[in-house]
Amino acid sequence: FGQPLYVLEVVKTTQEELRKLAEQGASEGTLVIAEEQTLGRGRHGRKWYSPAGQGIWMSLLLRPGQPIVFAAQLTLLTAVAVCRAMRKVSGADVGIKWPNDLLVQGKKLCGILVESISEDELLKYCIVGIGIDVNLQQEDIPEELRSVATSLRIESGARQDRAKLIAEIMHELEQLYDLYKQEGFAPISHLWEALSVTIGQRVKIRTPEGELGGLATGLDSTGALLMTDDHGKARTIFSGEIQLGR
Ligand code: BTN
Repeated sequence: FGQPLYVLEVVKTTQEELRKLAEQGASEGTLVIAEEQTLGRGRHGRKWYSPAGQGIWMSLLLRPGQPIVFAAQLTLLTAVAVCRAMRKVSGADVGIKWPNDLLVQGKKLCGILVESISEDELLKYCIVGIGIDVNLQQEDIPEELRSVATSLRIESGARQDRAKLIAEIMHELEQLYDLYKQEGFAPISHLWEALSVTIGQRVKIRTPEGELGGLATGLDSTGALLMTDDHGKARTIFSGEIQLGR
């Protein structure tokens, strides 16, 4: 993974740059990295703050050829790979909040956005977007985000080499993707649970029917979150945003 590699200066979003390449037939493993994004996008239609030079803003092309339901598993796999790489390179105590936010001490420093294009019920390709706040300092983080966002530099106490981190992420992703193709989701799910800061915690989730509180207990075989709600009823959460420890 990481070949071919496109390193760009300023783009709206690396997701769209890679999508154009994917439509032209780019191969699996193609990676687009930008120094700055002017329209970085996050999950649930949110913006992703992507200032010049201090972060890693990149998108990787996968062509898994699997049924659409596997997209959720690929996002969890990506979270495991990035989490392992960040821990290895920086030593920071990075954990995963379901489904794929990476946190240190409850503050977010990495987000993952997987956008899938499907054809005949199969995933034609997936654009795996990874945004990491690497070397931002306290004052670089917009004030309204300071209580919820942090960076690898702030948490590890040292500037981090972005190229080294990208190389480690690609290495981890390639290994886990091979494991996934050979042995399915079970081994990935175990790795995810071991790095998770969600399982065993009280969580709250907003659903169309209102707010649901309970205890997160694990992942099911598709990657959905299992929880026992406050009335003792087993629930399966397929998507959404959770709050921890409420
Ligand atoms: C989230 O909401 O947590 C996901 C954030 C994903 C951000 C990355 S940065 C690289 C890629 N390009 C984008 O516009 N978004 C993703």
